[in-house]
Amino acid sequence: MADAKKLFIKTYGCQMNVYDSERMAEAMGAEGYVPTDSVDDADMVLLNTCHIREKASEKLYSDLGRLKPLKAARPNLKITVAGCVAQAEGAEIQRRMPLVDIVVGPQAYHRLPAMVRAGGQSVDTDFPPEDKFDHLPQRKAYRGPTAFLTVQEGCDKFCAFCVVPYTRGAEVSRPPSRLLDETRNLIDRGVREVTLLGQNVNAWTADGWGLGRLIRELAALPGLDRIRYTTSHPNDMADDLISAHAEVPQLMPYLHLPVQSGSDRILKAMNRKHTAAHYIDLIGRIRAARPDILLTSDFIVGFPGESDADFQATMDLIETIGFGMAYSFKYSSRPGTPAAEKPNVPDDIATDRLARLQALLTAQQRAAQTAMVGQEITVLYEKPGRLPGQMVGKSQHLMAVHVEDTSGKVGDLVRATVTAAVTNSLSARRIPD
Ligand code: SAH
Ligand code: SF4
Ligand code: F3S
Repeated sequence: MADAKKLFIKTYGCQMNVYDSERMAEAMGAEGYVPTDSVDDADMVLLNTCHIREKASEKLYSDLGRLKPLKAARPNLKITVAGCVAQAEGAEIQRRMPLVDIVVGPQAYHRLPAMVRAGGQSVDTDFPPEDKFDHLPQRKAYRGPTAFLTVQEGCDKFCAFCVVPYTRGAEVSRPPSRLLDETRNLIDRGVREVTLLGQNVNAWTADGWGLGRLIRELAALPGLDRIRYTTSHPNDMADDLISAHAEVPQLMPYLHLPVQSGSDRILKAMNRKHTAAHYIDLIGRIRAARPDILLTSDFIVGFPGESDADFQATMDLIETIGFGMAYSFKYSSRPGTPAAEKPNVPDDIATDRLARLQALLTAQQRAAQTAMVGQEITVLYEKPGRLPGQMVGKSQHLMAVHVEDTSGKVGDLVRATVTAAVTNSLSARRIPD
């Protein structure tokens, strides 16, 4: 393979981009490209971008700026921009940065190999009628026991701050037969845990099934030990999905359920179509089904019009629920979204609110980790630890765990007792089988 071409990929943004990058790497693999970790020996650089906040999309342009000398020295170096900035800005990217050869959107990347073969500059940000997954090569060998599986794409919710409905398009669900096939294929390649992905994963529906039914069907596949799904919308938590948390042992007790704000006035302005009380009631029903479930969420502070009282309502909701972990962001105005028309909260106020919110969430996260000490957990090993006699993996709650274990291998699913909670991970001792 001395003459194999080398592909360098940088992935920004969400887990779906991670999945898409893998699929693009496989598609380019079929064209003779092998992955490389270094831009310096790459024949092609692929930047798989995120448009969600201004900082995320500006990263693309600083990275492209850094590629300029490389492209000047090696004009044959192909530079491709994929993902949500590609979709949002299209040919504008090449106008601003002429070194970019190819711009390809998230729904058109099965056409990337043909674009590379054709040479020259090109842009494809279509939402094509064909299903890209039908035109991609089969999944390749895995380096680990966990895998992502996109089951649903796009969003019809149109939250007032969010670009995703524009960059990913309308909600589309992949057919169950394909998802079962892809999962069987992953299991054959050593995968024991799949995370079902979708921008609104719990809006997945096909053949009269909802996500709860899909999870039950996947759980029946021999060899699949763990199932997760992300990201969900509170309004799509169907009863059958909630009861799956009670009834399907392979479904992990972990749920990422973004709420964004605890103020009904702001939730309405955000077009979230649920209230704080609705969210709290929903969490009550989910906890009744699965008492040990760990809840995580997303928050935006400084949404246009957010008052001190609105912010306090968000802090109150966090106190009421108690989250195991959460992501929080300062509102970022995005071109083309309804909220972009409104005046922003002054930056110093938003910055101060974010710090207070993060302090509370960090305290809750620590409390959730500390509460695990002395408990029995399960851990799926993902890699050896840095110290001998140690393995690293994730607990059922998706917490990182270092386990003392002299005989463990990657891919083992073991029971362990938590001995300590250190920053961002747990220490544990394996319980002999
Ligand atoms: N489909 C998912 C993920 C959306 S993006 C969902 O609905 O949860 C992930 C998070 O980014 C969102 O939950 C929100 O908290 C945040 N986000 C989205 N747009 C934003 C914006 N304009 N400014 C700041 N944060 C934003
Ligand atoms: Fe964006 Fe809202 Fe859709 Fe999530 S549900 S992707 S935040 S529009
Ligand atoms: Fe970013 Fe697009 Fe994902 S905007 S968060 S990469 S769906």
